Amino acid sequence: MLTTQNETAAKLDVAWVRAQFPSLAQTVNGHPAVFLDGPGGTQVPQRVIDAISDYLKRSNANTCGAYATSRRTDAMLAQSRAAMADFLNCDADEIVFGANMTSLTFAMSRAIGRELGPGNEIVLTQLDHDANISPWRALEETGATVRFADINEGDCTLNLNDMAHKVSSHTRLVAAGYASNAVGTINNVKEIVRLAHDAGAMAYIDAVHYAPHGPIDVRALDCDFLVCSTYKFFGPHMGVLYGKREHLKRLHPYKVRANTDAVPQRWEWGTLNHECIAGIAACVEYLADLGRHVEPAASTRRAALLAAFHAIQPYERGLAERLIRGLLAVPGLKVYGISDPTRFDQRCPTIAVRIAGHTPLELATGLGERGFFTWDGNYYALNLTERLDVEKDGGFLRIGLVHYNTAEEVDRLLAALREIVG
Ligand SMILES: Cc1ncc(COP(=O)(O)O)c(C=O)c1O
Repeated sequence: MLTTQNETAAKLDVAWVRAQFPSLAQTVNGHPAVFLDGPGGTQVPQRVIDAISDYLKRSNANTCGAYATSRRTDAMLAQSRAAMADFLNCDADEIVFGANMTSLTFAMSRAIGRELGPGNEIVLTQLDHDANISPWRALEETGATVRFADINEGDCTLNLNDMAHKVSSHTRLVAAGYASNAVGTINNVKEIVRLAHDAGAMAYIDAVHYAPHGPIDVRALDCDFLVCSTYKFFGPHMGVLYGKREHLKRLHPYKVRANTDAVPQRWEWGTLNHECIAGIAACVEYLADLGRHVEPAASTRRAALLAAFHAIQPYERGLAERLIRGLLAVPGLKVYGISDPTRFDQRCPTIAVRIAGHTPLELATGLGERGFFTWDGNYYALNLTERLDVEKDGGFLRIGLVHYNTAEEVDRLLAALREIVG
């Protein structure tokens, strides 16, 4: 296993990766900036910045007009939709763009809520970000009942047995995360979708946290909906929803009359953020180029994306191993989530910790002054921080690695943390 990791880690050319991201060269108080805030939003490669500014220079217009810039805008939208279809392995007309995952989920919950009433149930999880909880809880006003699948407290994994007990013939929707943005747990999404479908319910998957870390295949998962946000995987601040075509056609969105009824545009209202959508194709192309860089034989964009994640996953796993090993040696530190390296295929390199005698805010502030960008608090995974009883004490310190981080950054972070803790 280690040999494979080292071999593949060698394949991920971190120098090539880092050269793509101009913001990584920043300094803070004379220290090189270390971006460990990926779960809150990643940095973008130069090509994303270029795509956004080129759009504004050459193509800035509204859609469907009979003139050049409008036609270029229409073509750009089609290209970005096709890029996201390759990213998620679906058809381009199953891709909906929106302001962010939260807005898309509220829009979809309102539409799904039109079909719900007393006697219907929705199953959620204690592990999820509030953006995959509150939009569904809002449907309690229809008379529908919301039930929660619990976690296994010891390792912060989802308790699938509990979920199986909560899902029944009354369940109309199961909403769950692909991975936890707080403690990094990767859920068995295929099993969650199977549980939902066996009960005749739809499965709504929040892949926001998972998207920068692993390949997503909505066809293989067979999920009904899957949402992600491009600013978490090296792109602009936008949200993307995949919906099975049959659902996008059947459900009724709240929309203005003049808006087309064609799929997927009937789910996109008003004028979208075109310049950012131009950046979406560029961020997918960045990842595909990373894949071509490590696997020149990749013949399609989807194959190149899979090659990219094939290199990213073992590289990130190696970094997570190094980080968690070092963290566990810090006196008074507790890691929340999976810490056994043999199970790292079940976690993202997103590590939540607490250190006795220090609040997460104190730790994040001390690290921030030294150039390390980490997060403190609940990051909207409010059910989880309440369930683990850390909400009243400032939540966790979250250290989030992505593939542009390095082993040297991990070692420096550990040294800084030891210095702060004293
Ligand atoms: C797991 C997860 N789901 C949903 C969201 C909300 O995403 P957005 O900011 O695109 O609404 C976030 C944002 O941090 C997240 O981490």
